[in-house]
Amino acid sequence: MRLLFINIRELIQVRDASVEKVSGLEMKKLPKIPNAWLFIEDDKISDFGKMEDLPEIQVDQTIDLSGKIVLPSWCDSHTHLVYAGNREQEFVDRINGLTYEEIANRGGGILNSAKTLNETSEEELYKQSASRLEEVIKLGTGAIEIKSGYGLTKEGELKILRVIKKLKENYNLPVKATFLGAHALPSEYKNRKEEYLTMVIEEILPAVAKEDLAEYIDIFCEKGYFSIEDTDRLLEAGKKYGLQPKIHVNQFNSIGGVQAGIAHKALSVDHLEVMTPEDIKSLIGTQTMPVALPGCSLFLSIPYTPARAIMEAGLPLALATDFNPGSSPSGNMNLVVSLACIKMKMTPEEAINAATINAAYAMDLSKTHGSISRGKKANFIITKKIPSYAYLPYSFGSNAIEDVYINGKSVN
Ligand code: NIG
Ligand code: FE
Repeated sequence: MRLLFINIRELIQVRDASVEKVSGLEMKKLPKIPNAWLFIEDDKISDFGKMEDLPEIQVDQTIDLSGKIVLPSWCDSHTHLVYAGNREQEFVDRINGLTYEEIANRGGGILNSAKTLNETSEEELYKQSASRLEEVIKLGTGAIEIKSGYGLTKEGELKILRVIKKLKENYNLPVKATFLGAHALPSEYKNRKEEYLTMVIEEILPAVAKEDLAEYIDIFCEKGYFSIEDTDRLLEAGKKYGLQPKIHVNQFNSIGGVQAGIAHKALSVDHLEVMTPEDIKSLIGTQTMPVALPGCSLFLSIPYTPARAIMEAGLPLALATDFNPGSSPSGNMNLVVSLACIKMKMTPEEAINAATINAAYAMDLSKTHGSISRGKKANFIITKKIPSYAYLPYSFGSNAIEDVYINGKSVN
């Protein structure tokens, strides 16, 4: 299909296809074309320009987007979208005074989700997860990463990763899979963390690799969960199977997780709510993308990632939802972009760069996604009639999206 979109109020995030990520200073700019046209052929962006320069093109359909803005679809590089059931009771417990840590220590938290997941069939898990995926696609997400980590048993972890594989097969957006067997210590392994890690490395990891179920490896590197030594050990093992790290670090404490990620050539280090000046400095000159998850900060009432300090150090920054049942039960990237502006003092330009091109980089997709570029995939959002792109984060909580195209097809 050859589709021509005309009279676009503003075409946002227009870049050369060779741009893979943008650093802190460049993030202030969001390249755009006012009063634009966009031409797509099948699943790819073919060409675009100013309305006054519209050439004659043979098309199957012309679509008038007067008053509407077009931007690349969101890339969500950090989710745990495949989970079973929900944890709204823990949410109420926290309102009534318990902390996230206290809930986890009583066997709630990740272990609670793992128990439910292990009791849920693969079919049911797929059904719940597919409905979440459909919801976030309608909210503008056009590429997504999904982690395991709510199984914590060989069967459970493989069940999640097989569900992710099925989602990949059945939905036409890119889905990247991350093995997060080291998410928490299951109660059967209480005080036997080394044995659990050995089981993850010797039993689960080879099975994951054999079925080719993951691209990345992750670990929750945090006090009370997994240490730097554990992180080194797991990431070293993952490397043997070609799994690049994308890891959970610095959510509650700075214990050297950022540096461990860098040492193991992590594609991204995620969370970063607690960052020392040394943590920020250590990322300079590396290829590792820092990723902030403001939905988690909102939901758990914990600090927000110091975005300004990170960007002012010249580093790039990406944004993701962390969609999961415990610390961020929302996969809405629009809300994440709003929170970045409202709570992290990112400008709309910075937040949109962080949620598109830099987020694409954080899952190895910036060659094909994350910007409006000739030859990239035709994955984009069409807004309702709105006055400017700043209206997107400004109008937090309302839905300014009219349509979403993935691989050149409307999802509506
Ligand atoms: O990214 N921090 C570790 N894991 C998840 C939350 C896990 C949960 O509470 O279920 C996160 O926030
Ligand atoms: Fe997470």
